[in-house]
Amino acid sequence: MEIIVKETVEEMSKCAARVVARTLNAKPNAVLGLATGSTPLGLYKELVRMHKEEGLDFSQVTTFNLDEYVGLTQNHPQSYHYFMHENLFKHINIPKQNIYIPSGTTDNYAAFCQWYEQRIMECGGIDLQILGIGSDGHIAFNEPTSSLGSRTRIKTLAKQTIEDNARFFDAMEQVPIYAITMGVGTILEAEKIILLANGVKKAAAVAAAIEGPVTSMITASALQLHRDTMFIIDREAASNLKMLEYYEWIQAKMPNAP
Ligand code: PGA
Repeated sequence: MEIIVKETVEEMSKCAARVVARTLNAKPNAVLGLATGSTPLGLYKELVRMHKEEGLDFSQVTTFNLDEYVGLTQNHPQSYHYFMHENLFKHINIPKQNIYIPSGTTDNYAAFCQWYEQRIMECGGIDLQILGIGSDGHIAFNEPTSSLGSRTRIKTLAKQTIEDNARFFDAMEQVPIYAITMGVGTILEAEKIILLANGVKKAAAVAAAIEGPVTSMITASALQLHRDTMFIIDREAASNLKMLEYYEWIQAKMPNAP
């Protein structure tokens, strides 16, 4: 794992955007795995700027989103469909038919989940997966005790997640209880992964994911088994890391490595 600590959320976002741009420059028809939530907003803003000002091209890109709330229609302002269109897709030149987001309103979730997994495979797998992390250590909606081999499926959200998400809804009763989410096993098949985290509220989860044991109690800890994961985090999110000095030493010495 590579741990990159940035002073601000803006620097964190720009660093992640540079990795995405490098991926697209090397492989214009790359498959991106995308996340929602407040964390990747700065990344998407920077990608939009790069598209508009520097011609970053999405015309051959395919995207798969991690998750969606069950029961929210695509145009519900809190749906992840809506979030992605507002914050990224409507500002870039990605063809509509190349965008995949799990459906929160299908009448056959089991069949949909199987189809979603199959589409990822048919598109050649995910080249670069963007992740956030929940304060309970989840990636996508893989809540504590999710199988580390799990695939796309319906999950019942943890109370902590429902409480964390309540800020986006008018009332607690409106916060969805179920979500459709890629599994930990699905995520681990991505070629490269970037996990973003900022703020002191994420510090405990980040430390557990990087330095704790691999455990389904912190599904982000499964990333320790992945061969090419970068944690790009701000200083507050890094504040519980025991080996912080070492990670910064590595980053400082990396340019001169043979
Ligand atoms: P956040 O959510 O980016 O809104 O903090 C992250 C997550 O729950 O995965």
